[in-house]
This record gives sequence, structure tokens and C-alpha cells, in this order.
Amino acid sequence: MSIKHFLQFNDLTRDEIEYIFERAAWIKKQFKSYQQYWPLSDRTLVMIFEKASTRTRLSFEAGMQQLGGSAIYLNTRDSQLGRGEPVEDAAQVISRMSDIVMIRTFEQSIIERFAANSRVPVINGLTNEYHPCQILADIFTFIEHRGSIQGKTVAWIGDSNNVCNTWLQAAEVLDFNVHVSTPPEYEVEPERANLYGTDHFEEFADPMMAAKDADLVTTDVWTSMGFEAENEERRKDFADWQVDADMMRVAKNNALFMHCLPAHRGEEVAAEVIDGPHSVVWDEAENRLHVQKALMEYLLLGKV
Ligand code: CP
Ligand code: NVA
Repeated sequence: MSIKHFLQFNDLTRDEIEYIFERAAWIKKQFKSYQQYWPLSDRTLVMIFEKASTRTRLSFEAGMQQLGGSAIYLNTRDSQLGRGEPVEDAAQVISRMSDIVMIRTFEQSIIERFAANSRVPVINGLTNEYHPCQILADIFTFIEHRGSIQGKTVAWIGDSNNVCNTWLQAAEVLDFNVHVSTPPEYEVEPERANLYGTDHFEEFADPMMAAKDADLVTTDVWTSMGFEAENEERRKDFADWQVDADMMRVAKNNALFMHCLPAHRGEEVAAEVIDGPHSVVWDEAENRLHVQKALMEYLLLGKV
């Protein structure tokens, strides 16, 4: 069997994603009723972090243990990865000692070089360009609350970052629409997002117009990890791109609000929204655990 990686959202087909969602629902149910399920006993996950994380580390590490396997955490500070060992060499070695690898790093090219030299599946735990595990969890959460996402409208307000790019890819794979509003000069770069076309997204200068009649309104920090030097400038440029109660009022009545977290209340989102009745951010965060368990099961065992 050829190795399957999950480096960007469109590495999986619609059929595979639907299968993973089905498994995630089953795995979640088993977990909630304290049923032991250990399909990955004796399997080892290596997690490599070049950037900070709470949710991604916790959900992968706990998820692997709950499936009967074990997880090892490496970071750039105290491994040879931070001292210039070529990514290709690290991939050769790490993939001979483990069964699956998750990486959080900077450029997408780093994870691609790792995967090209890996004997085992590689999962993207966030790069500058994409965050595919996040959007798997987000769409799974949408489906739990509202049913199929096909044909629905997602409003993305703020920076056209890794999370935004991944929403755009997901819209192509699962056939829904994304209305994007970014400040001028922060617009979507379709090439960087690796999109096939522009059929599934529309850009709006006015964030209120993007949010209008949306089924889901979502945003993310104004400054992503690795771009901290731009923080002050971004605070000014993004000041009108806060998701607040007025913006939620123009969305559909039953619209959901999501944020991948960590959030900055009073910047990209008002406290009354993230802590209000439309918000499903805690379900969204929890679902990282369940969908990633289903993803690891699929990448290691195929359809069971
Ligand atoms: N959403 C997310 O990936 O969170 P962490 O940075 O805490 O992993
Ligand atoms: N866009 C954010 C997501 C954090 C989970 C970042 O890259 O920092």
C-alpha cells in the first residue's frame, strides 16, 4: 500500500473525508461511553513542533494514547532539528523509528521535503500556508450542529492566513462557498492557497457584506505565529475586521461562530460573540481529538 500523507486538505478526496467523519462520530461515541478502542496498540506517533501549541499537541498525544498507541514529543529547541540537521535526514531516521509523524512548522516546503523522505504517513499540524486538521474538526463540528455543509456559506473575516487557505481548499473538496473579507493588501492569494479555481469563494471589501446571510462566521488571530514583527501594523490595519454582535446579526439567525483558538477577545472577536449563543468554539476544540483519531486510524489502517 502506498503511503498516504495529509499535508493539505485536498490530499484527501470527498469520499475519504466523509469516511473519516463517519469514523470520528463512532470513535467519539465510544470514547464518551468509556469503551476501550485500541486499534493502534504498539504504534508510535512522533510529534515535531517548531511552533507553540496547546490544542494540537494535546489532541494528538491524548488521541494516540486513547487508541492504544504512544506519542513522542520533539521540538526544535532540544533536538538536532534546531541545529541544522537536514530535514531529509531527520525524516529518514524518525520514520524508521515510528509509525506516523505529525509536524507543526513554518514553510509548507519543509513538511513536503520531510514527507518525500518518510517511510510513514506525515500529518500537517499547521504550517504558514495550511492547517488541515483544524478544518477537518471545524467541518465535523458544523455537521454535528447543522447537518451537511454542501451548498452552505461560510464567512471568513480577517487575515487570509493558513486557516483561511484551508477553508478555501475544503470548499472545493466538499462543495460549499466561502465569503472572504480581508483588509486591503491582505487578500487571498489563490496560488498560495493552491486552489483549482475561484468558483467556491468570493471576496468582499466590507466584512458586513461577507457575513450577510452566512451559515457560519469564522475568524482567527490578526497576527499568526511567525509574523509577530508585523503585530503593531496589523492591529491598525485589521481594526474594522472584528466579528462583533452587529456582524452576527446580519448572518443567518441560526448562524454558528467558530474560531480555531487561541483567541484575542477585543481584537478579531468581541467577547459577546465568542462567549455568546452562536459560538461553538469548545465543541470545535474538542473535535480536534475525535477527527484526528479517525484520521490516524485511516492513514495507518485504511478503511476498517
Ligand atoms: N487551534 C490550534 O491549532 O491550537 P494550538 O495552537 O493550541 O495547537
Ligand atoms: N493562524 C494561526 C493559527 C493558530 C492555531 C497561526 O498560524 O498562528
